[in-house]
Amino acid sequence: MTKPKRIRKAVFPVAGLGTRFLPATKAVPKEMLTVVDKPVIQHVVNEAKAAGIEHFVFVTGRGKAVIEDHFDHQFELEATLSAKKKTRELEELLAELPAAGEASFTRQQAPLGLGHAVWCARDIVGDEPFALLLPDMLHHGTTPCLKDMIEAYEQTGGNLIAVAPVPEDQTYQYGIVGVVDAKAKTSRITSMVEKPPKGTAPSNLHITGRYILQPEIFTLLSRQKPGAGGEIQLTDAMITLSETPGTSFHAVRFDGTIYDCGSKIGFLLANIAYGLERDDLGPQLRAALKDLI
Ligand code: UTP
Repeated sequence: MTKPKRIRKAVFPVAGLGTRFLPATKAVPKEMLTVVDKPVIQHVVNEAKAAGIEHFVFVTGRGKAVIEDHFDHQFELEATLSAKKKTRELEELLAELPAAGEASFTRQQAPLGLGHAVWCARDIVGDEPFALLLPDMLHHGTTPCLKDMIEAYEQTGGNLIAVAPVPEDQTYQYGIVGVVDAKAKTSRITSMVEKPPKGTAPSNLHITGRYILQPEIFTLLSRQKPGAGGEIQLTDAMITLSETPGTSFHAVRFDGTIYDCGSKIGFLLANIAYGLERDDLGPQLRAALKDLI
């Protein structure tokens, strides 16, 4: 196999309405809700950075301008921190800022589905493979999930999807893949299905919200008809892509814990888990939780 093209760009679709998290998300994008002291989107951008991503593409929508502001300088604040000698805080802010030209923003004018949001990034991504990270899914583990995937991609090339097991009786709620070897870290995908009816899932491995995709997906998304929920579904286009002769799709098992921060329970658990592992907060939080319970 010739060396696969390097993954330089990552797409972050942030145009959804976040209806599962109302009323919090009425005026605040769910991607800006904080896990400990960082917006969820910052945690996910940091994961992409740790995997070597060089260009961050955000697909935003109405009411999401604050995300763009978050990834820009805030000169007044920076000047105040500097004047007050709050050097650590200032350094932390600047360290998490993309450099000039490293971030692009495009807008999905109507939330027609994840597949449509990804398609909106087509011109910025261009004709190269890219990573896709769903910003409400936090992947908490020893190595960043996308880093693991890029390492696997260097061996397999093609398309990759991160997966993790769910209890058999919950598979109907997820996108599920069938694989050659369900125990292997990386395994070839043999089937893919969005929300399979109970008892029909090809495995218990669900799609967790991290992907490496070849640019051919954009052509398929451009003709993709609405699927489940009346939305243009990414999984439907991936199924068509996987059926194209010569296309390879691999699953990479993620062995850490996944927090769905688009759901209230996932968000609460993420705050506790990320808080507990912090040196400055963990001991106090642990003691307070014990008292509370
Ligand atoms: P979700 O389905 O979790 O987001 O999509 P949602 O639609 O905002 O959530 P609920 O179900 O109403 O609570 C996963 C990711 O895809 C983005 C979302 O912002 C989220 O980060 N998305 C979804 C878009 O950018 N556009 C869409 O049309 C749909």
